[in-house]
Amino acid sequence: MTSIMVLNGPNLGRLGSREPEIYGSQTLADIELGLRGMLPADVSLDFRQSDDEATLIGWLHEAADARSPVIFNPAAFTHYSYALRDACQIVTDAGVPVIEVHLSNPHARESFRHTSVISGSVLGVIAGFGERSYQLALTQILTLLERH
Ligand code: DQA
Repeated sequence: MTSIMVLNGPNLGRLGSREPEIYGSQTLADIELGLRGMLPADVSLDFRQSDDEATLIGWLHEAADARSPVIFNPAAFTHYSYALRDACQIVTDAGVPVIEVHLSNPHARESFRHTSVISGSVLGVIAGFGERSYQLALTQILTLLERH
């Protein structure tokens, strides 16, 4: 059974009420439910959220060791966490795909959001499509696993 990790960074636990004009009215639980509906029977989803950088780093190490593909929304850490970038590089170097996702398009927002320190250490980036960003990433990982 292949397991795919979906990791969510700080403040994403507040989706639904947090800046709905930018992030929409869906909660993280809604996003998780949508992804679960796409899964083939032999693939499982490990969906997690933390506001804590160290916890996210530990989960990325876990993904590298377990060889679990990762869909990762680093939230605000995207823009400044070199430690999370290095952790993504560990997963990538293990030959395990990491896809960075964003609900909004950070490039169309404030200038501090235009830089991702994460993107250079992942396989690809999908941004700007709300919960569809996560679904597109899952579709791509299933394609890579040849389970689409
Ligand atoms: C985000 C974009 C980030 O700039 C922001 O800090 C977030 C969410 C997104 O999904 O659009 O928390 O990663």
